[in-house]
Amino acid sequence: MDKNYAIEINGLTKSFKGMYALNGLNMHVPVGAIYGFIGENGSGKSTTEKLICGLLVPDNGEIKLFGKDYSDPGVRVRVGALIENAGCFPGSSVWTNLMMQAINLGIENPNEEIERVLKIVRMEESKQIKFKSCSLGMKQRIGIAMALLGDPALLILDEPINGLDTDGMRIMREILVDITKNYGCTVLISSHILGELEKIATHYGIIRQGKMIMEISSEEMDSRCRVFISLKTKDMDQALDILKKKFNKVKEENGYLKVYDVDEVELIVGYLMRHGHVVSEIVKNKIGLEEYYIEIMSNKGGEINE
Ligand SMILES: Nc1ncnc2c1ncn2[C@@H]1O[C@H](COP(=O)(O)OP(=O)(O)OP(=O)(O)O)[C@@H](O)[C@H]1O
Ligand SMILES: [Mg+2]
Repeated sequence: MDKNYAIEINGLTKSFKGMYALNGLNMHVPVGAIYGFIGENGSGKSTTEKLICGLLVPDNGEIKLFGKDYSDPGVRVRVGALIENAGCFPGSSVWTNLMMQAINLGIENPNEEIERVLKIVRMEESKQIKFKSCSLGMKQRIGIAMALLGDPALLILDEPINGLDTDGMRIMREILVDITKNYGCTVLISSHILGELEKIATHYGIIRQGKMIMEISSEEMDSRCRVFISLKTKDMDQALDILKKKFNKVKEENGYLKVYDVDEVELIVGYLMRHGHVVSEIVKNKIGLEEYYIEIMSNKGGEINE
């Protein structure tokens, strides 16, 4: 068993009323990673996170945290989580809520620990505000502060940036990078906001119908994110046929012809000109996480586990 994984899951199965939510899921989250967990609605992300946190009981399979079985009390105390909501008392202050949780967890120096986590989530100045008066962004940060009490080595966050504005997302991003870089924490984060995830994730796991279909590091993802050129001509159908004769991967999408793995605009314009097509619009692009994800998800050819 590899201790370099904060989370290692093998063959995890969970069903609800005879329907599989997870169907033999495998997962490998390296220590120190910010692991972006991506998948369609209902694909099993929250179920996986709840199982790791011990909020649900698996039907089958194995969950290892830092090389030990996830039920080991020694590793359980190293896990902090924010799933669904922070579970705070609305009429109590930020500080009181944190204190109740700290006492609940049996933390030795609660005052010091609360100051520590408030500093990480940048809420030292807001500790006297009632929870119900906090903005959504603040509430999410309080949730992270709650999860950070007791200095966990692994933080599990279910959609923590949903509904946040640009500034809220930026602060959250900085906090998560800080937690991994300066506090040595590993972060598992599920999100639908791929453009944001792309800015911080070091690894990705893509889940579909309860199975991991791909795990990939952001470096590997970068090297796979190919360049492509999108263009418009008057007769798109004819131009598509002509492009297909010369270039390996060409497709029509959203009103554009896309030519992959070519980054010389002149080559394409010249070629089409020679065949009687005038290009009216042309742009050079690089596939980002979003495009890459759509491409993988449209490949319905089963498991691509790598
Ligand atoms: N407590 C439950 N009882 C019955 N079915 C459930 C329960 N929890 C989850 N499911 C089902 O399990 C499947 C996976 O749900 P899950 O919430 O894990 O998906 P998700 O990937 O988190 O989706 P989303 O992106 O919408 O949050 C879904 O089909 C869901 O309806
Ligand atoms: Mg979910």
